[in-house]
Amino acid sequence: MRRKMAAGNWKMNGLRADLAEITALASATSTTACDVMICPPAPLIPAMLALEAGIMVGGQDCHAEQSGAHTGDVSATLLKDIGASAVIVGHSERRADHAETDAEVRAKAEAATSAGLIAIVCIGETEAERDAGDTLKVVETQLTGSLPDGTTAANTVVAYEPVWAIGTGKTAQSSDIVEVHAAMRALLRARFGAEVADGIRLLYGGSVKPGNAEEIFSLPDVDGGLVGGASLKAADFSAIVAAASR
Ligand code: 13P
Repeated sequence: MRRKMAAGNWKMNGLRADLAEITALASATSTTACDVMICPPAPLIPAMLALEAGIMVGGQDCHAEQSGAHTGDVSATLLKDIGASAVIVGHSERRADHAETDAEVRAKAEAATSAGLIAIVCIGETEAERDAGDTLKVVETQLTGSLPDGTTAANTVVAYEPVWAIGTGKTAQSSDIVEVHAAMRALLRARFGAEVADGIRLLYGGSVKPGNAEEIFSLPDVDGGLVGGASLKAADFSAIVAAASR
């Protein structure tokens, strides 16, 4: 039985005043049957943890090295040291904005897990790739290339986020989500064996909202969501957490 996860990715949004949303979220979600996480911009992590809101806090990226001359980057070791539980790696916005390759994402995932963090590894096709009928091929290439050999159910979560569904209000059809998640599960089984693969949580991301979360989270092999815009407000995200707790 996989425990569902509702993870919020604040992206480059949120100021200290927005920590009030975390306090509100904590009181709205005090009894949940799922893991609840928020990944704010890195400088907000200590203040978010200091609220002791009972919500897991994660980073949005880490460097593949644990220290060194890499101005502006954040290491997985530091994220772990300040109390983060997880870090997102390979988000499509980083793949696009910073030309991150599968090999780099894999190295970051390795850095994350060896620092003791959960790596939330993101994959997903662009609209052009989908239109060309290449969705499953792209998902296979990214999943294979981005996951390290040491992947386990405890140290890794995979997020399928079709790029064209992110921030657009367009959600993938349930049948498409089911097809991709089943394909990911099969690939994980082939590589890591059924016991490991069947424990790895597969999140869907891309315009998850209070109105569609319950349907999406009830699909086979969907173990929760990675949520952008709708994670910024406690009123929205608490409804999504509730959907993941059913
Ligand atoms: P939206 O929920 O805003 O579409 O963003 C999804 C996402 O990119 C989460 O990582």
